[in-house]
Amino acid sequence: MRILSGIQPSGTLHIGNYFGAIKRIIESQNQGELFAFIASYHALTSVKDKAVLEQNTFEAAVNFLALGMDPEKATFWVQHHVKEVLELYWLLSNHTSMGLLERAHSYKDKTARGIQANHGLFSYPVLMAADILLFDSEVVPVGKDQIQHVEIARDIATSINHTYKQDLFVLPQSKVDEVLATVPGTDGAKMSKSYGNTIDMFNTKKKIKKQVMRIVTDSKELDEAKEWENCNIYKLSELFMNEDELKELQTRYATPGEGYGHFKLALLDSMTEYFAPYQEKREHLLANPKEVHEILAYGAQKASKIAQEKMRILRDVVGLI
Ligand code: TYM
Repeated sequence: MRILSGIQPSGTLHIGNYFGAIKRIIESQNQGELFAFIASYHALTSVKDKAVLEQNTFEAAVNFLALGMDPEKATFWVQHHVKEVLELYWLLSNHTSMGLLERAHSYKDKTARGIQANHGLFSYPVLMAADILLFDSEVVPVGKDQIQHVEIARDIATSINHTYKQDLFVLPQSKVDEVLATVPGTDGAKMSKSYGNTIDMFNTKKKIKKQVMRIVTDSKELDEAKEWENCNIYKLSELFMNEDELKELQTRYATPGEGYGHFKLALLDSMTEYFAPYQEKREHLLANPKEVHEILAYGAQKASKIAQEKMRILRDVVGLI
């Protein structure tokens, strides 16, 4: 089974990225043939600063590797190192109706929030379809917000298969973990950098503490019993604590005497403990960029081989000899 997923290099990783996507992407290297990449071209839709994009891309790669991505088991590369994807993007564009893209939620949401749309943002799902279809991906693990994009990839693939009367593309399936489909942010809405409600995975304890302390709760006092169901602190604690720890936390909620600040500190401790084992590897890689670049070059080479062969077939089919 061929599994593919990508993630934008958006700077500091937050726990929504991790539980919504990265963790499952990395785990899937043991379930099938995994293709995973840093979506650097996609990031150009929002990042217009050379140093920032370079640094974010490097750090995203470091994070994936520190968290367990195995470059031997999986094919792991940076999107713009395999340029065939842009050629396929053009080919797909000619089979993508305007209406299909106009209906895309993420585009509609962004324009509704007043973000000036350019053509890159509008055609973003076509590039994503190219990522998926170039590698004959069968399964695409993503968070809920990306399901529609995978459906758009299916629609485009179906249209081209129909036009050329052959099964040129595999029809991909998105795979969403229902429990983790949307990791809540500090305000209870979907955790997202653009909403300013994130909690970072790797940062100074001081910075992470500040973010945790921002978690929105009701206004119950110390001497009142509290409800863990629907509490944002509890929902996030579920990601890090085991069953016994959660039982204990429920009892603490039910017993008057503690405030939400105490539960926030308990969450902070379990988070720090959870990510601690990855820190050392991360620091090693940050200090050895050459090692990271070599791993990425190796991944790009493996991905290119497949991409080149696919494009050779496609050019022939459409008449680009
Ligand atoms: P991106 O970089 O915005 O997010 C990466 C992945 O993380 C998931 N995610 C979340 N899941 C649950 N709760 C949250 N709060 C949360 N925040 C983010 C996203 O659903 C996503 O799966 N367009 C993609 C990147 C991409 C891609 C691809 C993905 C480019 N080409 C091909 C799959 C296949 C994106 O912007 O994801």
